[in-house]
Amino acid sequence: MKATYLYSIAIAIAICLGLPATGHTELKTEGKGRKLVLDSSQFSGEHKTRYEVFKKSCCQCHVMARPVNALIKGVTPISGEKFDAPGIKTYVVTMMRKPNSGITREQAKEIIKFLQHARSLVE
Ligand code: HEC
Repeated sequence: MKATYLYSIAIAIAICLGLPATGHTELKTEGKGRKLVLDSSQFSGEHKTRYEVFKKSCCQCHVMARPVNALIKGVTPISGEKFDAPGIKTYVVTMMRKPNSGITREQAKEIIKFLQHARSLVE
């Protein structure tokens, strides 16, 4: 009787926390501080390909932690601007236009899609 009662409470808490399998996945990361990175194993298919473009392009001048922090918080770490879908687009274009970014327009498009997908896993 007592066990059933506790079980019901556990279920109720799980429902409140949104834990049931609703298809919601969260963004998985590894490390802390400057070593914070995305867990690459969570991406497959086109997202995996885009992740590789992101990794190659966006970690040349600063650590991956910078964009990853923005993804997690939804706010950029330095200027505190929104890192939502339109914000992601603005920042990727800004980064692409920095001298010697080496990022092409095609790569920028892929990175925007990737970051918007990654951000959707947090929201
Ligand atoms: C050519 C060097 C360079 C590359 C390549 C680069 N960044 Fe940056 N990034 C910077 C610098 C420098 C800053 C510091 C703020 C500024 O100057 O805008 C920065 C800042 C940031 C910030 C914080 C912005 C803020 O205002 O808080 C984010 C987020 C970011 N970069 C994401 C990215 C992403 C995503 C990519 C890949 C598309 C990327 N960066 C590629 C140089 C670069």
